[in-house]
Amino acid sequence: MNVLITGANRGLGLTLTRRFARDGFGLILTCRSGNPPDDVDGVVPFMRVIGGDLTMAATLINIHETLDEFGVDLVVNNAGVYSDESLQDMPSEKIIVISSVNFMIPIMITQIAWPYLEKSKNGAIININSVAGLNSSYNEPVYSATKFGLRGFSEAMDKVGRPAGIRVLSIYPGAMKTDMVRHREDWDNLISPEAVADAVFDLYNRKYDSLAVTSITLERF
Ligand SMILES: NC(=O)c1ccc[n+]([C@@H]2O[C@H](COP(=O)([O-])OP(=O)(O)OC[C@H]3O[C@@H](n4cnc5c(N)ncnc54)[C@H](OP(=O)(O)O)[C@@H]3O)[C@@H](O)[C@H]2O)c1
Repeated sequence: MNVLITGANRGLGLTLTRRFARDGFGLILTCRSGNPPDDVDGVVPFMRVIGGDLTMAATLINIHETLDEFGVDLVVNNAGVYSDESLQDMPSEKIIVISSVNFMIPIMITQIAWPYLEKSKNGAIININSVAGLNSSYNEPVYSATKFGLRGFSEAMDKVGRPAGIRVLSIYPGAMKTDMVRHREDWDNLISPEAVADAVFDLYNRKYDSLAVTSITLERF
C-alpha cells in the first residue's frame, strides 16, 4: 500500500508519516524544502520526497509523475495554511494563498490521483478539514470558507467515487498541538496530532459495507 501525504515535514503531516511508516506503507511525501522528514520509523518499502510549493504547477507535475511511477492507494490532503486575520486586514495575496493551499490544491491532487486510485483495491482520499469547516466563527472567515468548500467537495466526490470503490473521507479536528496555533495560550491542552493521525489510520481501515463512515470529528472535552 502506498500513501501520498502533503505537508509531511512537520505538524500533523509528519505525525501521519510516522504513523503510516510504522505500518509499512510506501511513502510519497510532499515537503516544500525537498528534505526528507526526520526519523521516519519502521521498514518502508520506499520513500519519495517531492519538494516545491504546492501552488506551483511544477510541483503538481512532479506529483503526477511520481504517482505514475509508483501508483497510490491513499491520498491525505493535509497541507494547510491558517489565519485569524480579519477580512479587512488580510492582504489579497494571502487570500489567494490560503484558498489555493486549503481548497484548490486538494481538488487538483484529487484530479491527478483519481485514475491511480481507481486501480487500487482500497482507494481513498482523506481530506484534513477542521471544525472550522463545520461551524464558522467570527475570527477566521477566510480559513473557515476554505474548509467549508473542501467539505462540500469531499462529500460530492465521495458519491462520485462509490461506484469505482474510491472513498473520499474527511477528518474534522479541533485545535491541535502544532505550529499552526502555537500562539495560543492553551496550546499545551490542545488535541495531540498523534490522536488525529490514529483517527486517519482508523478511518482508512474501516471499509464501507452496509455502513459508510465518511468522517471523524475530534473535539476536546
Ligand atoms: N493545528 C490545528 O489547530 C488544526 C486544527 C484543525 C485542522 N488543522 C488542519 O490540519 C492540517 C495540518 O496542519 P498542521 O496543524 O500540521 O499545520 P502546520 O504545522 O502549520 O503544517 C502545515 C504544513 O503544510 C505545509 N504547507 C503550507 N503551505 C504550503 C505550500 N504552499 N506548499 C507546500 N506545503 C505547504 C507546510 O509546509 P512548510 O513547513 O514548508 O511551511 C507544513 O508542512 C491543515 O490542513 C490544517 O488546516 C489544523
